[in-house]
Amino acid sequence: TKKADLGPLVGAVDQGTSSTRFLVFNSKTAELLSHHQVEIKQEFPREGWVEQDPKEILQSVYECIEKTCEKLGQLNIDISNIKAIGVSNQRETTVVWDKLTGEPLYNAVVWLDLRTQSTVENLSKRIPGNNNFVKSKTGLPLSTYFSAVKLRWLLDNVRKVQKAVEENRALFGTIDSWLIWSLTGGVNGGVHCTDVTNASRTMLFNIHSLEWDKELCEFFGIPMEILPNVRSSSEIYGLMKAGALEGVPISGCLGDQSAALVGQMCFQDGQAKNTYGTGCFLLCNTGHKCVFSEHGLLTTVAYKLGRDKPVYYALEGSVAIAGAVIRWLRDNLGIIKTSEEIEKLAKEVGTSYGCYFVPAFSGLYAPYWEPSARGIICGLTQFTNKCHIAFAALEAVCFQTREILDAMNRDCGIPLSHLQVDGGMTSNKILMQLQADILYIPVVKPSMPETTALGAAMAAGAAEGVGVWSLEPEDLSAVTMERFEPQINAEESEIRYSTWKKAVMKSMGWVT
Ligand code: G3P
Repeated sequence: TKKADLGPLVGAVDQGTSSTRFLVFNSKTAELLSHHQVEIKQEFPREGWVEQDPKEILQSVYECIEKTCEKLGQLNIDISNIKAIGVSNQRETTVVWDKLTGEPLYNAVVWLDLRTQSTVENLSKRIPGNNNFVKSKTGLPLSTYFSAVKLRWLLDNVRKVQKAVEENRALFGTIDSWLIWSLTGGVNGGVHCTDVTNASRTMLFNIHSLEWDKELCEFFGIPMEILPNVRSSSEIYGLMKAGALEGVPISGCLGDQSAALVGQMCFQDGQAKNTYGTGCFLLCNTGHKCVFSEHGLLTTVAYKLGRDKPVYYALEGSVAIAGAVIRWLRDNLGIIKTSEEIEKLAKEVGTSYGCYFVPAFSGLYAPYWEPSARGIICGLTQFTNKCHIAFAALEAVCFQTREILDAMNRDCGIPLSHLQVDGGMTSNKILMQLQADILYIPVVKPSMPETTALGAAMAAGAAEGVGVWSLEPEDLSAVTMERFEPQINAEESEIRYSTWKKAVMKSMGWVT
């Protein structure tokens, strides 16, 4: 039978903390045609440490591409119509590899990892000039979250990394760099690059000049020759060197939260989205202005969709633990077998019965930036059961979002009238309703939840030399939305929120 001709298609790699996906979209209608997903292992070699295997991550990308292409074949869709590939990725996670062998020199140190807490404390004592040195250049607080300190730790503690740097064999990258270098040929001419959004999460990148910052590299003791070239988020970086899509250009690259902002079409100043993945990240587009927060938010590069296109910035509220708390209930407590079961448990009781769960497993990020915090479950009675704990875990995700939304409203001056959401957890209807109740504004979700991948596909398809996707608003397909309206009264919502805040205070200061 003749293969269906849908016009140009675009693929996107979505390499998140919990899983890898490859998705293929129709560039004319933005319709998702097929995808494949593989869960990624996380290793916890010591308390507070979080690592992943860079080779497993790369393998998972190849596997997802191959499986998706097979599925497209079964749908009678010709994979030679795939004209470009975009990459979106978990940000900050740090890899160092050997450019001669292609071998990683240590596991990837994941963004959630806390091993650099003492490095951060020591560095903060010697910040030159005023305390604003790092923040004014990068938009970021000095924290374990960002790559520079993870790289510092690798340089201080891993002999193989030290040796490779001395012998000029070491390359550093976040996951996007590692993937693009490997997919474009690795030891045989792989392209060592990153994009402005990923670079802006390293704490080595000057978000005003859009270049690696020499003073920051000196401060963190990072040799600049191991850093990747910084490119825009939409341009041809190189061609796929192997697999079913050999020869297809990789032409989009965005950190996953930026990709979701693009995928949700938040192109205007003041438009925002919240993505529920392993963590939870609320980004508000601030246009060409770098807005600095007074309330614990980050300033970050939102996107730059082409070499000659202007840069856009965003204010970001980062929550470390969202979906990860569900995985923890599954893997560490075993009270659910699959992540989806959480909804059934929570629904059975419909309340936490006064139980509050602060999942500060990696300290608290925005708006507190408190590395000394640790997770607590409080308000327990003999009546409390696993359903209440499940409900409290979902509520925790919503309360954390409320905290960053409040900070965002204070920084921006104009409160958001509704919240655009996406990400895996948004298929949980109880969570979405709770979120609307706790924010006391409507929560709006696109019917196609894969907005992160869509954003990466858009960037790839729109790149110069590809040109199969137009970013003009009139060409974007009308996206249908699902709305969740607040159903409890504001007073009840406030009482719950203030009790949550009490629980947050109790979670702080556990580690001294
Ligand atoms: O900054 C970390 C973030 O990019 C991770 O995203 O989707 O894996 O929670 P996700």
